[in-house]
Amino acid sequence: MILPPHLTVRGGHLHIGEHDTVDLAERFGTPLYVTDEVRIRENFRRLSGALTAHYPKVRVLYAAKANGNLAIFRTLASMGAGADIFSSGELTLALAAGMRPASLLFNGSSKSPSDLALAVEKGVRVSVDSLDELRQLNAAAGEAGKTVDIAFRVNPAIDVPTHPKIATGLATSKFGIPAGEILDAYRHALAAEHINPVGIHCHIGSQILDVEPFAREVEVLIGVACDLIEIGVDLSFIDIGGGLGIPYRRETDRAPAPEDYAGAVMPAFLNGIHDLGIEPELWVEPGRWLVADSTVLLARVNSVKTAHTTFANVDAGFNLLVRPTMYDSYHEVVAANKADAPAVREYSIAGPICETGDILAKDRMLPDLSAGDIIAVLDAGAYGFAMSSQYNSRPRCPEVILSGEKAALMRRAETIDDLTAPMAVPPWQA
Ligand code: LLP
Repeated sequence: MILPPHLTVRGGHLHIGEHDTVDLAERFGTPLYVTDEVRIRENFRRLSGALTAHYPKVRVLYAAKANGNLAIFRTLASMGAGADIFSSGELTLALAAGMRPASLLFNGSSKSPSDLALAVEKGVRVSVDSLDELRQLNAAAGEAGKTVDIAFRVNPAIDVPTHPKIATGLATSKFGIPAGEILDAYRHALAAEHINPVGIHCHIGSQILDVEPFAREVEVLIGVACDLIEIGVDLSFIDIGGGLGIPYRRETDRAPAPEDYAGAVMPAFLNGIHDLGIEPELWVEPGRWLVADSTVLLARVNSVKTAHTTFANVDAGFNLLVRPTMYDSYHEVVAANKADAPAVREYSIAGPICETGDILAKDRMLPDLSAGDIIAVLDAGAYGFAMSSQYNSRPRCPEVILSGEKAALMRRAETIDDLTAPMAVPPWQA
């Protein structure tokens, strides 16, 4: 199997960074999420560098939904990243990590009155998704005696080659305002007393392995920018969202490199702004590309059973990694303590959840597995822990972060008490 440079096999064990995954499983227990902070820093430098090589005024907003641990926010804040935030929780974590309000964009198609009030209070820019939201935001800003900088989320009606659940810029998606109606929205914004339209926002989808749709997206946004200049909008940023995919199928996926991505979007962007005579910042909102490959999910084999197929029943399921169940996603699996043993048998890696769909990986050729073996699920850093649940009343597992020789918990294991603590006894049952 092709492994990224921070994953190596030494002495028959899978290592991440400087650490033996089998030792980590022993020390912290399983299931366990393990993240290599050094890899996140490398990813950030690579993606940011590929874009700034074309144009210096680039701002990288980490899509915080991919992994919301405060240690990840801090890592990216220290690299100069801002954040695409989608909730008051993400806003609060981003500020707690030291990100400046001006480097955040509050996105989302369904913000509550308290979300809007918090954005106004903290001075965060808002990506507005509808005229109804614009009206509410204007009122909230008026009440606070402030003016809010906004962008509108443009729906460019672009089809992208990805799972339909994560294509966000289709004409039928719930996000944004159709490009054909956007000018009218900006006119309303210009007329609103407490609103200052300064940007354009768009995001066409996630896990996209072709750069061409991104170039088309930029062309749509440049067209919108052209119209906006005519009505007197002073654009300070154009935000093209995230979505660059990674090669989950490490042997066969042909994933564009950040340089390919930059090579596709930057000419369209630079030619466009040159023709328009403007120099806005280019904002990007990568999530997956920054954090996915930094993390492995370690699980222990509880039992092996041969039925119509051979199951390795492990202690992590879709409670901890829902992607395979939710999107039929593929994640590579390595037998962490037998990493250089020959692959001799096909296994389905099944979790402990009471649903047939609780299969982390199907029909994988692996070494002979038995109870006690450790498997590593790769590329689990984006939308892994972030989408975990306590389904079947299973406390969530801990998360460990590594920096060179150092290893530390970035989240402790939940306990049974954590399950019951928020519950209340109705008075008639007391
Ligand atoms: N910006 C906006 C407005 C977004 O909605 C998203 C992702 C991103 C940026 C970051 O996209 P990325 O660079 O990570 O592709 N749970 C799904 C992915 C959902 C993506 C949601 N929005 C999965 O596990 O594949």
